[in-house]
Amino acid sequence: MCGIVGYAGPAPPPSRPVDVALQGLARLEYRGYDSAGIAVVDDGTVRLGKRAGKLQNLREALAERTDMTGSVSIGHTRWATHGSPNDTNAHPHLGGHDDELALVHNGIIENFAALRAELEAAGYPFRSETDSEAAAHLVAREMEATGDLTEAMRRAVTHLDGAFTLLAVHRDAPGTVVAARRNSPLVVGLGDGENFLGSDVAAFVDSTREALEIDHDQIVTVTADAVRVITADGAEVTDPKRFTIEWDVTAAQKGGYPSFMAKEIHEQAGAIADTLLGRLVDGKLHLDEKAIDDSVLRSVDKIVVVACGTAANAGAVVKYAIEHWCRIPVEVELAHEFRYRDPVVTEKTLVVAISQSGETMDTLMAVRHAQEQGAKVIAICNTRGSTIPREADAALYLYVGPEIAVASTKAYLGQIAACYLLGLYLAQVRGNLFPDEIAQIMEDLHALPEKIQQVLDASAQVEDLAKDMKDATSVLFLGRHVGYPTAMEGALKLKEIAYIHAEGFAAGELKHGPIALIEEGQPVFVIVPSPRGRDVLHSKVISNIQEVRARGARTLVIAEEGDDEVLPYADVVIRIPQTRTLFAALLTVIPLQIFACELATAKGLDVDQPRNLAKSVTVE
Ligand code: F6R
Repeated sequence: MCGIVGYAGPAPPPSRPVDVALQGLARLEYRGYDSAGIAVVDDGTVRLGKRAGKLQNLREALAERTDMTGSVSIGHTRWATHGSPNDTNAHPHLGGHDDELALVHNGIIENFAALRAELEAAGYPFRSETDSEAAAHLVAREMEATGDLTEAMRRAVTHLDGAFTLLAVHRDAPGTVVAARRNSPLVVGLGDGENFLGSDVAAFVDSTREALEIDHDQIVTVTADAVRVITADGAEVTDPKRFTIEWDVTAAQKGGYPSFMAKEIHEQAGAIADTLLGRLVDGKLHLDEKAIDDSVLRSVDKIVVVACGTAANAGAVVKYAIEHWCRIPVEVELAHEFRYRDPVVTEKTLVVAISQSGETMDTLMAVRHAQEQGAKVIAICNTRGSTIPREADAALYLYVGPEIAVASTKAYLGQIAACYLLGLYLAQVRGNLFPDEIAQIMEDLHALPEKIQQVLDASAQVEDLAKDMKDATSVLFLGRHVGYPTAMEGALKLKEIAYIHAEGFAAGELKHGPIALIEEGQPVFVIVPSPRGRDVLHSKVISNIQEVRARGARTLVIAEEGDDEVLPYADVVIRIPQTRTLFAALLTVIPLQIFACELATAKGLDVDQPRNLAKSVTVE
């Protein structure tokens, strides 16, 4: 949700600030693409280029400019909150009576109206409808008072309510970029004679893999040669946490695929192998950061999974496994609903916060709410250095590599696999499963990457189906057990990238209302559980297929290899390899991801950047 970049390098020539900012914004464009802009400081002047629409519009505008030089830059790619997505509302915003400062902002400034009134009364010129412009003038005002950009930023943020990452440059501080963060992401990239700022490490991974984490309410001052971090009270932070980015820039490129989404779908076998790699060794679950004591895990009497969107669907899948293996009740709740009711959470509650980005504000607020009530929180995340794993009591990373496409695919599989590991570990420390049972389940889990690859290798059938169905106006998805959240996920993917009405239902619920939607030719995907495991489940789903087919539905059936019982009722059968009922969720969703991706592509849509969406939702 808005991407921000900053750069401080050597004085020109050669001049890199615009190139570095454009490159960083290209990597962050998945965070928002309503507008983009860059500011530089050169020769005692702040210069701006900004355009509504995608980054390409800005590139074209800047190609004609010869004045965008200097040694520092800040840049922004916007997901609009306050004010429509036009050129004026695009960031950076100028601040001060004489346009002496430029600022970019990610987040929401809740008290902007009062600040704006105060600053307008003092004669500061406002041009946009954004909340961010108030911050620009505020920092400029404090700069007039102090003559020091770091101190100006420190003072300014004491006046701000809300969530923000702010980056500012000023004509009187050439060579310097100052940043501040509160409840919004910011990382520093450490280069050789140049330094970088970004919403996430993708912003600068082309230039450096060494990075620093920045805490909330800290101010960072970056020049070509130095990075200085202070707290909101002005105290020096002498030991900001340094880390090395594990992936390289090729992971953030399309690698010959038509879209990042297609690439990420096709990476899933390797991605899940990486999630599972070296995790449960000699009976010990290897967590990435911090730990929750086994004695605490033994005393847990309830698990609450908090997450949003696709991550919540992953949570709904793992509920079945954790309850089955550990005999602990598992509630799965949308984080924004959990936060604003009065949930029953105690010291014996384990909260599992699932978030690819680690920055989703709704999930972060749920985490804090749970911790205030004494619950321990384990974060299941993909993004190192992000806020949720840092605030949680323990973290388990996915290691599926950067997910660039807005629609989540490989992270979904990674989230399920990581939670399965957590469930097995809980079962072990609590004595719910025997070691040989765990070993057998682990063996089956480790067999999944190969099976995922088999599903991917057979993708042509689904690709053709999607092309044939590109004019569909409504698609329904049905499943039971882990097939139910899979149906929800299949529908979500189709809605968000193909803009087609789609709904996922628990197959047993259909007769309680939604079956009224079925008419001649209505496409219905049905996810069929294994006939080998719990055959009651299988026969119930077979009945559900018959029910919709009898009413004219076109049935698109995802079933295990060798399951011939589905044949009389299926218009199309999509096969997946045999696996445990619980693990089928990691396979059956893949044809649905491919279907959505191919159908949206066939409609000529931009599958990586669907309308109205952003990858990382950092507002509530
Ligand atoms: C859908 C999608 C979103 C995210 C949701 C949570 O494809 O990507 O529904 O899953 O916004 O995001 P994270 O996992 O970053 O917390």
